[in-house]
Amino acid sequence: MSKKISLIGAGQIGGTLAHLIAIKELGNIVLFDVAEGLAKGKALDIAQSSGVTGFNVNIVGTNNYNDTKDSDVIIITAGVPRKPGMSRDDLLGTNLKIIKQVADGIKSTSPKAFVICITNPLDVIVMALQKYSGLPTNMIVGMAGILDSSRFKYFLSKELNEPIKNIHSMVLGGHGDTMVPMPKHTKIKNKILVDLVKENKISKSKLDEIVNRTRKGGAEIVKLLEKGSAFYAPAASGVEMAEAYIKDQKKTLPCAAYLNGEYGYKDIYAGVPVMIGKNGVEKILEIELENNEKSNFDVSINAVKELCNAAAKIDPVLGK
Ligand code: APR
Repeated sequence: MSKKISLIGAGQIGGTLAHLIAIKELGNIVLFDVAEGLAKGKALDIAQSSGVTGFNVNIVGTNNYNDTKDSDVIIITAGVPRKPGMSRDDLLGTNLKIIKQVADGIKSTSPKAFVICITNPLDVIVMALQKYSGLPTNMIVGMAGILDSSRFKYFLSKELNEPIKNIHSMVLGGHGDTMVPMPKHTKIKNKILVDLVKENKISKSKLDEIVNRTRKGGAEIVKLLEKGSAFYAPAASGVEMAEAYIKDQKKTLPCAAYLNGEYGYKDIYAGVPVMIGKNGVEKILEIELENNEKSNFDVSINAVKELCNAAAKIDPVLGK
């Protein structure tokens, strides 16, 4: 039977998600937005492209949560995006209120769904979504690591003149400026990135520059677009997570997942490698971190914790 995929937020990322999911025929799509016309208009526009593209899925737009009832997958992008000069953290107050509404909307209508959150500031918003909705932690994940890794791989592929499909990497930690690209866990063909530095195939300063550009990858796009934030790469990343769940691929992907002692942290969401299959997050993989990687990871988790504290000040329920 066809899966039902609901997209909460029909803005830039939501619309792109709908288009990609339709082309891949991952399931029937419900595009939800408080702006009803936006959801309906985009749904109709995408549906009308099926005559050209040939996909065979149903797609509707709505502003009523009843239409999302019994979704298999929900992808959330409801919220405001960044404007130039803003950090993801500046979105906290507004997006917390929005995510509470979304949690209320989905918890009774789709309690069994696999829920992927994309709204920023990512790690703290996923935590809030889980607390507000009460859905099981293995069924609520955040999309960030796939996007950050894809940016890192893209910059490396250009620098090394190597097809991106030959590059395997993970960016872990929180989805902010302290995120942790992992040169020791990055492979180009079968070579580790740090060995390429030793062999002078890439200089240490160039690598540092790429790490820094990856960390600020979102801001670079915000500055260029002037009116919003990235949406093609975030949408593609969200679709990869949905597909892993729907097709029970048991793929290992860097995602914001609930830590219950893994990597030495408890009761917090942060970017780690997880295996996604038909049971949602089936496993958190604990890869060995070198000293330097571990200390960068700790800095990043502390930044997430600070934001969680800020969220608890806005809504004390989140501190419990
Ligand atoms: N319920 C549902 N949808 C909502 C709500 C709500 N309570 N509040 C706002 N929205 C909708 C808006 O109407 C808008 O159409 O969310 C949509 C967001 O779309 P965009 O403004 O185009 O933002 P987008 O680029 O898609 O990013 C969404 O993802 O990556 C993050 O930082 C980004 O937090 C931002 C989110």
